[in-house]
Amino acid sequence: MRFLASALVIVSAAFGPVAWADELDEPEEAVDSAEIELPGGECLACHLTTDDKLGELWKADVHARAGITCVTCHGGDDTKADKDLAKRPGTKYRGALTPRQVVDSCGGCHSDAEYMKERKPLLPIDQLEKYWTSWHGKLLKEGEPKVAQCASCHHAHGIREVNDAKSPVYASNVPATCAHCHADAEYMREFGIKTNQYEQYVESVHGKALLEKNDVRGAPACNDCHGNHGAAPPSVSAITHICGACHSYNAELFLGSPLAPAFRERSLADCVACHGQHEITHTSDSWLEDEPGGACRKCHETGDEGSELALYFADSMESVHQSFDEIDGLLTEAETKGMDVTEAEDYVEAARQGLMQARTLIHAFSKPVMEEKLIEISANQAAALEAGYSALRGLQERRRGLAISTLLLLLLTIVVAIKIRMLPPTE
Ligand code: HEC
Ligand code: HEC
Ligand code: HEC
Ligand code: HEC
Ligand code: HEC
Ligand code: HEC
Ligand code: HEC
Ligand code: HEC
Ligand code: HEC
Repeated sequence: MRFLASALVIVSAAFGPVAWADELDEPEEAVDSAEIELPGGECLACHLTTDDKLGELWKADVHARAGITCVTCHGGDDTKADKDLAKRPGTKYRGALTPRQVVDSCGGCHSDAEYMKERKPLLPIDQLEKYWTSWHGKLLKEGEPKVAQCASCHHAHGIREVNDAKSPVYASNVPATCAHCHADAEYMREFGIKTNQYEQYVESVHGKALLEKNDVRGAPACNDCHGNHGAAPPSVSAITHICGACHSYNAELFLGSPLAPAFRERSLADCVACHGQHEITHTSDSWLEDEPGGACRKCHETGDEGSELALYFADSMESVHQSFDEIDGLLTEAETKGMDVTEAEDYVEAARQGLMQARTLIHAFSKPVMEEKLIEISANQAAALEAGYSALRGLQERRRGLAISTLLLLLLTIVVAIKIRMLPPTE
């Protein structure tokens, strides 16, 4: 029986989210809360009539569906319809919980391996342990009540599975959940840290990918860089690994480059020193130019080794672009004259791929590495040019052919015309 129950839990863990999402998509008004058997007894019965909207939230709560009730978290006597009796002394009623009580209460069940194994065996049980290592947890332990605790990120009621799109910790909702405090200058004032992370993030390449293109699997939300429960700013040496979780080749190249040890020695934050953190944007080849605002100018001066390499990168990119312009011109001409340029376009595509790879290879900060890629790019560009010219040569041959056949056709027409004239009149 117990086996069956846990098998069911496993099945619901695997298929639960889908089925639930379907249910939640139904108009909420259609479900009459009074008709559903929800745990909560008289507490719920009365709180359905109070203006805290608890009844509505409770319907969607994973805990309600798992049979957990108000008194589990709040104490009290849920068999009494009278408020004072329900909360009378001796019922362990503790009202709304303090932040510390929230963490102990939520964390208590969720870190209890025996308990969770019986109910949702696939759910991790490390939230409490990690929470205490986070900046939030450390400050809470010191008595600071304004930091995030479990309910600040998950809410206290209406808690949904984390992969439910309506959950406050669903990827695309995380930035707003964190911003609730971190973008509130008034709330954060006493801590003296910046409150512009959200503002910068929404404008960043990552923020746009998550919030505008809805790339919930690919693009990082706040927690992808900061952790869920271990929320803390990544240490300087961890940054490469955090960015590298998605940009693995950039990270690999950088770690193998002469810059990595130089950065470590000076406590410069790997990727972030050049790209920024919350404000990361698309890069462009103009970044490499030796001008104020250039990526290398931040730390290098004209004439030093770094600046020399930057100049080499910039000049190389410039010449690659010039060749592309030349090829574009040629292929447009051939195309407007009706020639087939697919062969040339294949080489152009290969060269463009090469250019993208070259931008990543910058992170090796090595001239020989870049040189090798540039040779490959220019070989493809040369082949594209050759194919373009040969298409145009084909055009000249076709023209010559056309002139001859036009001449032949004219001759034939004359012969036919003469023949027609010489025919005897019909009557
Ligand atoms: C007869 C109605 C009624 C019943 C029964 C009732 N409550 Fe309340 N509860 C209220 C009202 C109204 C408030 C708003 C604050 C107030 O007036 O005390 C409230 C406030 C609360 C609060 C906020 C903190 C506080 O104490 O003010 C919590 C938590 C709470 N109730 C939980 C419960 C629990 C748990 C039960 C069952 C054991 C329960 N309530 C039973 C009406 C009720
Ligand atoms: C899983 C634990 C848990 C359960 C179950 C639970 N609550 Fe709460 N409740 C909390 C926490 C935590 C807070 C404090 C919220 C905060 O500090 O952000 C809270 C706060 C409240 C408040 C204060 C107003 C508010 O919304 O914050 C009321 C009223 C309340 N709960 C009533 C209930 C009732 C009635 C039930 C049963 C239907 C219930 N709670 C079930 C954890 C729980
Ligand atoms: C700073 C915000 C934040 C705080 C504080 C927080 N969580 Fe979470 N929690 C998250 C995020 C974000 C996720 C992951 C969502 C995902 O995986 O997509 C998550 C996931 C979870 C999950 C799903 C399983 C898992 O670990 O991925 C549980 C259960 C959970 N949290 C419980 C808790 C408990 C208990 C506490 C308090 C000890 C807590 N959380 C504190 C943000 C928070
Ligand atoms: C009495 C034990 C208990 C308490 C207290 C409790 N939880 Fe849970 N929680 C559970 C169980 C059991 C589940 C699994 C429910 C299911 O899906 O069957 C769960 C599920 C969850 C989930 C959904 C995880 C997922 O994605 O499947 C989150 C998030 C969560 N709890 C957060 C909290 C927070 C935040 C608190 C405190 C406000 C809290 N829990 C208090 C037992 C508890
Ligand atoms: C309830 C409000 C609240 C919420 C929600 C919240 N935080 Fe915080 N957070 C704080 C407070 C307060 C501090 C302490 C500021 C300090 O002294 O550094 C803090 C500190 C931090 C720090 C350390 C900052 C430092 O000092 O270097 C990071 C990183 C952080 N939070 C990330 C997050 C992320 C990511 C989320 C969302 C997943 C989040 N927080 C949600 C209130 C919140
Ligand atoms: C792409 C990774 C990434 C994302 C996404 C991200 N952060 Fe950060 N965050 C960082 C890094 C890296 C640092 C700084 C580490 C350092 O310089 O020591 C940082 C620092 C912080 C700090 C400390 C104070 C400060 O500004 O230096 C807070 C608070 C913070 N982030 C909150 C957030 C919030 C809120 C979000 C979502 C809106 C978010 N972060 C998204 C990487 C990220
Ligand atoms: C969870 C995965 C993930 C993490 C972690 C991540 N990124 Fe990204 N990053 C992406 C995705 C996806 C895109 C492409 C977004 C788009 O173009 O729509 C991107 C785009 C970029 C771009 C722009 C690339 C271009 O083509 O112009 C840069 C630069 C970048 N990320 C740097 C970083 C840095 C630095 C970090 C660490 C602080 C980081 N990323 C962390 C997924 C991630
Ligand atoms: C010393 C400065 C510097 C450091 C450190 C650095 N980058 Fe870059 N990165 C650049 C420059 C310059 C470009 C622009 C190349 C271009 O567009 O021509 C770039 C381009 C990128 C791109 C877009 C091109 C591509 O590869 O798709 C990504 C993504 C990226 N960097 C990620 C990272 C990550 C991740 C790290 C850390 C492992 C990192 N960068 C470290 C300077 C740096
Ligand atoms: C955040 C500061 C910073 C930025 C930005 C930066 N560098 Fe550097 N770079 C350094 C430091 C520090 C060293 C070590 C200098 C030394 O050893 O005297 C260094 C050294 C170098 C070296 C010499 C490596 C060797 O063999 O010792 C090269 C080449 C170089 N950088 C290229 C670049 C290029 C190209 C860019 C722009 C894409 C760039 N750097 C941007 C900080 C930076």
